[in-house]
Amino acid sequence: DNADIGLVGLAVMGQNLALNIADHGYNIAVFNRDPGKTRKFIEEAKQSEPSHARLLPFEDLASFVLSIKRPRKIVLLVKAGSATDVTINALVPFLEQGDIIIDGGNSLWTDTIRREKELRAKGIEFIGSGVSGGETGARFGPSLMPSGTRMAWASLEPIWRDIAAKVDAVTGEPLEGAAPGKPIEGGFSCTEYIGPDGAGHYVKMVHNGIEYIDMQLICEAYWLMKNLLGMEADEIGKVFEEWNQGELSSFLIEITGDILQQKDPVGPGFLVDKILDTAGQKGTGQWTAANALELGAPANAIAAAVYARALSSVKEERVEASKILKGPVIKTESDKQAIIEAIKNALYCSKICAYAQGFQLMDKAQVQYNWKLNFGEIAQIWRGGCIIRARFLQKITDAYALNSRLKNLMLDPYFTQAMNEGQEGWRKVIALAVTNGIPAQGFSAALAYYDGYRSAVLPANLLQGQRDYFGAHTFERVDQPRGKFFHVDWPDPARPQLDV
Ligand code: 6PG
Repeated sequence: DNADIGLVGLAVMGQNLALNIADHGYNIAVFNRDPGKTRKFIEEAKQSEPSHARLLPFEDLASFVLSIKRPRKIVLLVKAGSATDVTINALVPFLEQGDIIIDGGNSLWTDTIRREKELRAKGIEFIGSGVSGGETGARFGPSLMPSGTRMAWASLEPIWRDIAAKVDAVTGEPLEGAAPGKPIEGGFSCTEYIGPDGAGHYVKMVHNGIEYIDMQLICEAYWLMKNLLGMEADEIGKVFEEWNQGELSSFLIEITGDILQQKDPVGPGFLVDKILDTAGQKGTGQWTAANALELGAPANAIAAAVYARALSSVKEERVEASKILKGPVIKTESDKQAIIEAIKNALYCSKICAYAQGFQLMDKAQVQYNWKLNFGEIAQIWRGGCIIRARFLQKITDAYALNSRLKNLMLDPYFTQAMNEGQEGWRKVIALAVTNGIPAQGFSAALAYYDGYRSAVLPANLLQGQRDYFGAHTFERVDQPRGKFFHVDWPDPARPQLDV
């Protein structure tokens, strides 16, 4: 038994995470359902990976498990859903008390809660760990969101800290070339204990919900520049490149700059113009929106991003509808620089709303599911390695450092100022989108959230009247203490008001 850890599932994420672990000086046993895949992986690693000798391949589960030092740590990187249960069930007969299974897939957090409970009853520890950063993140430093018992975490922690992305602990700037296995002075490793049972996968799910809206907002900015200003893809790409130097600096803005400037490798023009406009999705954004609905958290911008993908996917219907349903003729704007600046404002303000919604949702969830989440730390874990990594996240960590009980990110002085400064441009852009018939669901949903949240008074008075009218659902009065409920016999004003 000379493996420090084991890993099951050698698709790209699994392969890359195994190499990352081996690079940090750990012997890692690897197993895949199809042994041919294991052989191929080892073959290729021998040719190109210096740490390949630390990869220990196995073709049967029993010897794989026996090769791992106890308490055994076994990472699963298999498809979320039933494949995860099948793998766990196959492993269990070979495991002993105190062994730890770590699920690094994009599992639904309620599945993680169930699995943790089932395995605990068998004396086996279960860590559900969000893993973000795609293939490159897994290989060179992901953002990791683990949850389970503290004891299990203590056992996994050294490896997780070693392989995670590293950022400067104070500024949050990514630390490049972090030496494998060596702690970096002043460095923060992008992983922290999130909480018990499903908390880690929950936080990863919200990360993905935010990822969806972050991406949607960027797409809207691109679309408005293209349609309102008649800009070509590469020119828009340069704008993103420039934005990446400032407060919008982030992985998604950076890759957008690259994507937009990419020439079509098989013909003239830019590749982005040749990509079919139907968005795929594997479900994590939809889970976030559905959970927000369930908890009554106003995450309308996150939901708008999910709906925007759904609308994009009915391509044939849209093509038909475009011949039937009328819209205005788009009027190209001439004041290019001013419009680009306004689009930047719209993007930044909407992004703040999106994150405010994500954190507000996690706040509701921690009450509902009995967790104690550390929001400043979560923002710091997301600062490096993950898909939504951004300079902006440091401001969120700072906001929670200033006030750990912050009700809404928009109320933090930095963010309040950003919204105050950006809102004029944001409104102008949405007005232009509306008058020209250009869809901007993300920007508009975010603005509706902002305007709703900052309204001391909303028309829900009328709504309560309607509910009381047709269903005797009662209402409270502005001139009476909260918690006192009234009902009247609508529509007869002469009848007395009942105190219920
Ligand atoms: C990450 C990503 C990753 C992934 C999702 C999103 O954090 O590394 O979020 O988990 O890209 O699969 O997928 P869809 O867009 O396909 O839903």
